[in-house]
Amino acid sequence: AEADDQLIIDAGQKQFGAATCGSCGMIYSADSLEDNLQHTQFHQRFLDSIKFVGWKKERVVAEFWDGKIILVLPDDPKYAVKKAEDVRRLADNELGFQQMSLSCPSQAKTYLFVNSERMVIGCLIAENIRQGFRVLEQPEQTKDMTKEDFMEHHRAWCCSTTPEKALCGVSRIWVFSLARRKGIATRMLDTVRTSFMYGCHLTKEEIAFSDPTPDGKLFATKYCET
Ligand code: ACO
Ligand code: ZN
Repeated sequence: AEADDQLIIDAGQKQFGAATCGSCGMIYSADSLEDNLQHTQFHQRFLDSIKFVGWKKERVVAEFWDGKIILVLPDDPKYAVKKAEDVRRLADNELGFQQMSLSCPSQAKTYLFVNSERMVIGCLIAENIRQGFRVLEQPEQTKDMTKEDFMEHHRAWCCSTTPEKALCGVSRIWVFSLARRKGIATRMLDTVRTSFMYGCHLTKEEIAFSDPTPDGKLFATKYCET
């Protein structure tokens, strides 16, 4: 009876056909022609996007036994900015409709986690956000104001009352599906805190996550309490 049960389970799984590709992490039905085709198309594009050939100048901000974190800034050479964009696109794809546009792309800092197999398996985009924003985000005050007015108003207000304190906004955090739960996101955030503002170690409270996904919430909650 036990052997029979086993057979049925196996046959069921085969028919259902859910397979996870060991290289790109895509879950697809191996029995479906369409799924197979979709996987073939995704597979190469994905691996090309995360492939890291190594650069003449790399801004290495952290090193670990299993990889390193490279910081890419908007004015860096084209190949670096392009790699950061390629990886961001992958992350956006996975985040689907939850994706957000960057509030100020010209100031965004991209952190890439490169593993020892020369693949970018993590990406974090951090932006400057200001503490006063929350306070001023009230309809009466922002009504009829252009974005420039709003920023100007905010700055003036902020300087006159409290010392202007910059916060760091994490607009995207993504780790390759096959590399999750290995502390990659944790190490990227720890690195952001020491390197985002020159000469300043940000506390966990000074980091904010924009519009987190369920995964993002679970991670952020855990990160902030420890
Ligand atoms: N479920 C439950 N707890 C979790 C999860 C999860 N999916 N992910 C992280 N945690 C908690 C755990 O307590 C974990 O510690 P443990 O593994 O010892 O239990 C702790 O957070 C640290 O996790 P890390 O290993 O550092 O996180 P990881 O490298 O796996 O990356 C991330 C987490 C970035 C959320 C990843 O799951 C991911 O890329 N998901 C898909 C994209 C996504 O949703 N990103 C967040 C979008 S929100 C935003 O970008 C602002
Ligand atoms: Zn694959």
